[in-house]
Parts: sequence; C-alpha cells; structure tokens
Amino acid sequence: MKRIALLTSGGDAPGMNAAIRAVVRTGLAKSWDVFGVRHGYAGLISGDFVPLGARDVGGIIQLGGTMLGSARCPEFKTADGRLKALSQLRRHEVEALVVIGGNGSQTGAYALSQSGFPVVGIASTIDNDLYGCDISIGVDTALNVSLEAIDRLKVTASSHHRAFLVEVMGRECGYLALMASIAGGAEAVIIPEQEADPEAMASDLRAAYDMGKSHAIVVVAEGARYNAEGMADYFKQNGERLGFDLRVTKLGHVQRGGAPGSFDRLLGSRLGAAATDQLACGGHGVLVGLCMGEIKATPLAEVTSNKKLLDVSLLALARVLAL
Ligand code: ADP
Ligand code: F6P
Repeated sequence: MKRIALLTSGGDAPGMNAAIRAVVRTGLAKSWDVFGVRHGYAGLISGDFVPLGARDVGGIIQLGGTMLGSARCPEFKTADGRLKALSQLRRHEVEALVVIGGNGSQTGAYALSQSGFPVVGIASTIDNDLYGCDISIGVDTALNVSLEAIDRLKVTASSHHRAFLVEVMGRECGYLALMASIAGGAEAVIIPEQEADPEAMASDLRAAYDMGKSHAIVVVAEGARYNAEGMADYFKQNGERLGFDLRVTKLGHVQRGGAPGSFDRLLGSRLGAAATDQLACGGHGVLVGLCMGEIKATPLAEVTSNKKLLDVSLLALARVLAL
C-alpha cells in the first residue's frame, strides 16, 4: 500500500475531524501518501483531492464539523456516478479509500467495494442507527448538546408552569430522543419505534400537572409519526386539558454543531487508527466501530443488510423515573 484517500460524507458529526487527523497521521506513520477528498462523494466524482500532511490536520481535533466538508450526493447512488469516482481514484493512483459517515455513506462504501475497490468505513453519525457499532462518532456530543438545551428549557418551563415538546434529530431512529429523555429527566418521550397515542400523552401530561409538577418536558424524535408540531397541533384542539400551557422547541442542527467532547475525540482517534490498521493488514470491505468497548471490524455487507435495533425496554425506565 502506498496511497490512500479519505472522505467524510452525509450529515457531519462532532469527532469527524479527530478521525480525519488519526487516519492521516497513522497513514503517514506507515509511510503512505494520504489524500483528503473534499465534499464527500461529490468530490470523489469531480476529483477534488488534496494531499494531506501531518501539519494540515493540526489544530482540528477540538473542532466540530469536518475540515474536508461533507455532502449528500445523489449521483453516487448511480452506477455511472460510481464509475466516475473509480476513474478519479485510479487517476490519482489511490489504492484504498476510507469513508467516514453514517448509514447512507456506508451503503455507498459497500457499493464501491463491490466493484473490487478496497474501502474501509468509519462509523460516524449522530443518529446512532448504524449496525456494526454500539455508539458512533458524534452521538455523545449531540446528546450532551440536547441535554444542555433541555436543562435550560426546564428552568423557563418551571417559571411559567409550562410543558415543552422538545424535538431532537435522529432520522428514523429514536436513540437520541430516548437517551435524552432519561438523562434529561423528561416527563415523557415519543420515538418512531413505538407509536405514541396522543390521548395517552395528554393524560400523562395532565397527571404530571395534577401531581404538582411545575413543568413537563416531552422529548420527541423527529422521525416519530407525531413529531413535535404534529403532537402540538393535536393538543391544541383541546388546550385546557393538559393543565400546562404548551410550547414547542425544535433543536435541529444545533445538535450537530459545536466542539466534540472527550468521548468523540477519543472514539474518532481510535477508529481512524483502526481503519489504517485494517488496510495495512489487507482488510477491506468492512466498517470499524466500537462494539462492547472494543474496536471491531464488521463486513459492510452485514452492516448494510441489518437494521440496528433500539433497546425499547429503556422506555419503561424512562417512565418510572418520571414519577
Ligand atoms: P449518512 O451517511 O449520514 O446516513 P446519507 O444517507 O445522506 O447520509 O448518505 C450520504 C451519501 O451516501 C448520499 O448522499 C449518497 O452519496 C451516498 N449513498 C447513500 N445511499 C446510497 C446507495 N444506496 N448507494 C450508493 N451511495 C449511497
Ligand atoms: O443523519 C444526521 C441528521 O442530522 C439527521 O438526524 C437529520 O434527520 C438529518 O441529518 C438532517 O439532514 P440535513 O443536514 O441534510 O438537513
């Protein structure tokens, strides 16, 4: 192996920069040339390659986002787009590619690897919906950002005797919402994995009011059938019954921005190093991720054909802790 390239793709996640830095520096330590590809698969198709040295990735471990830029690139989903990408990789004499990203990005990585090109994926998405890892890069920081917001909302909610519907990201996965509800001490949670009954939710809020609570926080996953606005609309039809006055806060992309915490810096560093170790020993067509505290490599075929399941038994814990 002489030359590798790396890219970040899909939604950015705090800790991606730590992974970039680790891939570059561990690659250089193996005497390889390392190229960064700008703007994900879009840059792979257009040939936006930059050589990266050790100093080029200095001072980035503490930064959120990705120094390489990211993109959603519909063209890469086509065979023609991937052929263009392969020809750019050959033109730059690159022998292997590291893809830092989530579910969609790893599906793209698998498609590329099926054409015979060596690819290693690094699990990175705030959604924590990627099979082959217990927790991906960015989840811990995004969760902490949500908790800071929830803690603040509780203060103003208490002052005004209000209920807040707080919408968090996660696509079709309720992980961020469920964990934020437990760690944030919320009164209720709504996730895609378990259909919410708005009538039951209204009764729960009324019960919290009648129990003498000064506020109620409901964490709502964006992918749930009733997202925060949907649930608020439903409640508005009969506003009196909740007891609390109601407000909606959508955290949105705030969760993705900001500096990575220690967990994501360490995870990015370890996974970046694991990716080049895989390539050095001839491993490819795999995703590196943290499983039961250890870094494991899982075939991309397995990653892309399995759905990561959320431990919905934690809903019972969330409920009892909200008494
Ligand atoms: P994430 O990686 O965060 O889940 P996306 O789902 O948006 O983000 O995927 C990122 C990119 O990965 C897409 O814009 C596309 O370029 C590529 N991708 C997604 N799905 C596929 C697919 N089925 N085949 C090839 N490439 C894909
Ligand atoms: O996959 C990460 C994520 O932040 C999801 O939680 C969210 O649904 C989506 O990306 C938002 O995408 P965009 O940044 O393209 O609006």
